[in-house]
Amino acid sequence: MAEPTPDAWRRVDAYLTETLVGHDPDLDKAVAEQHAAGLPAIEVAPVSGKLLHLLARISGARRVLEIGTLGAYSTIWMARGIPEGGVVVTIEAEPAIAAIARANIDRAGVGDKVEIRVGRGEDVLPTLEAPILAGDVPRFDLVFIDADKESNTIYLDWAARLGHPGTVVVVDNIGRGGEVANPATTASHVIGTQRGLEMLGRDPRFDATALQTLDLKGWDGVAIALVTDAAAMPSAD
Ligand code: DHB
Ligand code: MG
Repeated sequence: MAEPTPDAWRRVDAYLTETLVGHDPDLDKAVAEQHAAGLPAIEVAPVSGKLLHLLARISGARRVLEIGTLGAYSTIWMARGIPEGGVVVTIEAEPAIAAIARANIDRAGVGDKVEIRVGRGEDVLPTLEAPILAGDVPRFDLVFIDADKESNTIYLDWAARLGHPGTVVVVDNIGRGGEVANPATTASHVIGTQRGLEMLGRDPRFDATALQTLDLKGWDGVAIALVTDAAAMPSAD
């Protein structure tokens, strides 16, 4: 049996992508535009984009919240997984990146399904609560967390507050090349990832698991959680 060398796992990832995901000109163009703008190639792998798309369909999501837009690769995948009348609200901290994302989203034909909110997650997320509490818009059915890892616990708290029992929460980059299992790490993004996973394990508002991934992005992983009935209880504070 072959060892899981980087060459071997990239070959498997390419095989799975060719066999199950295929190619889409608008998604390919979104990545090309992101790279041409000098943005890092840290969008999810195609197999993971398709996973997000399928989770949207499996959960019957109509309202999706994404924290961390970048070039909108994952945004487009999820927008294509929700019905007409549904929305992906995606949060991007940098206005220049949001402009690239908007062009990619519109080119992909899902412009009417995506709202980009420009600002830091910590600032934008509280603004999403009032219209929900006022009954003006429904709660989010699917939340994808893929921004600064240091804030993962804050983002998870908002996912539970803006979601409902049954909301699906996905957290990207939970493996970090194996560093997630290093209790002595001093890297703030790894510590943030660990704190987020510990919260998912401990906080009664979530039931969660996580999978390691080996794909063209390297050795990483994804956590998948369900918001439980505990999220509907009045909070103690
Ligand atoms: C990084 C961030 C990501 O969301 C990702 O998928 C890969 C890498 C990073 O900040 O290095
Ligand atoms: Mg990521």
